[in-house]
Amino acid sequence: MPQIYNLSTVCNAVTGDCTFLGGMTVEKFVVEGEVQLCGQVTISGAKNATLPIMAATLLCSGVSVVHGVPNLRDIKVMQDILTLLGAKIVREGNTLIIDTTSINHMEVPEHLMREMRASVFLMGPLLGRFRKVRLSYPGGCTIGPRPINLHIKALEKIGTNIKESFGFIIAEAAELAGGEIHFDFPSVGATENAMMAAALAKGTTVIRNAAREPEIVDLQNFLNRMGAKISGAGTDTIRIDGVPKLTATEHTVIPDRIEAGTYLVAGAMTRGDVVVDNILPEFLFSVTDKLQEIGVQIEIGRRYIRVKPGDLRGVDIKTLPHPGFPTDLQAPILSLLTIAKGTSIITETIFENRFKHVDELTRMGAKIKVEGRTAIIRGVPKLTGAIVAAPDLRAGAALVIAALAAEGISEIEHIYHIDRGYDGLERKLQALGARIVRQNCD
Ligand code: EPU
Repeated sequence: MPQIYNLSTVCNAVTGDCTFLGGMTVEKFVVEGEVQLCGQVTISGAKNATLPIMAATLLCSGVSVVHGVPNLRDIKVMQDILTLLGAKIVREGNTLIIDTTSINHMEVPEHLMREMRASVFLMGPLLGRFRKVRLSYPGGCTIGPRPINLHIKALEKIGTNIKESFGFIIAEAAELAGGEIHFDFPSVGATENAMMAAALAKGTTVIRNAAREPEIVDLQNFLNRMGAKISGAGTDTIRIDGVPKLTATEHTVIPDRIEAGTYLVAGAMTRGDVVVDNILPEFLFSVTDKLQEIGVQIEIGRRYIRVKPGDLRGVDIKTLPHPGFPTDLQAPILSLLTIAKGTSIITETIFENRFKHVDELTRMGAKIKVEGRTAIIRGVPKLTGAIVAAPDLRAGAALVIAALAAEGISEIEHIYHIDRGYDGLERKLQALGARIVRQNCD
């Protein structure tokens, strides 16, 4: 009998049996490799910009309209959470119409908190608007323990009283007052949570050592359209002059730089000729620089980047907060380096446990040794197809990329991880010539 513990174990690792969970079919990708990708791919809106923006709609009563929303499982989970809180949401193509007039809950259900760590973003907006929120601890996840101490510290600095008991966090503020927040580490989520709560605080809040990711700039733009007074996003100091009230607005999210980077690496690994379109290339300079160092030919336009084949050689990479090399592209580029000539070293500095794809790549013939936060990769001429399982979202994408270049057929299981963050992955890859199909596990 298949065992069901939670979403990540719906397929029995020993027997290979899979089952249905909550009406969701358990699926896998079957990929026939050694096809050079060729053509143009259009990038969707950014998941990690959309999620905090959806949460930010809670800051006021009214109807917000968000365009460019990707079709992803994480977005659906956030929709479900907002709906449970009392929002009315309609999706029309890539547009979400979110009516937050009747929000009547200040508590996020535990099972949804567990399903998506990004639900921690609800703390800031609910506190800002209602001065009270109760949620369960998001807990760890497969890429590392992911604590929320920085979120809590930031919210306390602006007048929130936070109690933790029996796995629940109860945050209350009689009045939110501006304050000085200094992060020990530039956490993306904590920066966003602090911005959202402080937008409705009395007085000025300054966030130092703030995260500088482009998604934070997009959130600033959204909040300012709502009437907030925020400046400095994109630098390490963000200033928020609190306002008494925000109003619903309309916004288009920025393109997904991680999705874009994934297709660039897929093009490079299959020695293809791929134009990645509808992007903001300046957000990907750390990635295009590395690809060039690896030997990939790169052409950068105003809204696109093109990759063309070159002789691949090993490089060293260290993941860092933006504008450094993004941790979310570490797994995909590691796949590429498995077939680059010579030795490469990747150091993962952001998350503790982000080399879970290494065992799976080893099944495909890669030569990789992991020591703590460092992976040492000795390039091989080619990978070979195998049955592998996606351990998390980006690692799953990395396995698909490896399979596209490998000799023979690969099967990638547990693709519900990939569906969390890649809109129409197989459709977009098929349009580039890939032989990839989605099948039910049987
Ligand atoms: N951290 C703490 N305490 C905190 C918050 C974070 O110690 O209170 C640590 C984390 O454990 C981690 C590091 O700081 O080691 C970075 O965490 P950060 O808060 O910056 O990340 P996040 O907000 O949880 C977002 C993205 C991630 C992306 C990271 C880093 C969203 C929804 N998620 O996560 O995206 O990897 O920033 O850039 O924006 C993904 O899309 O696959 C993904 C995991």
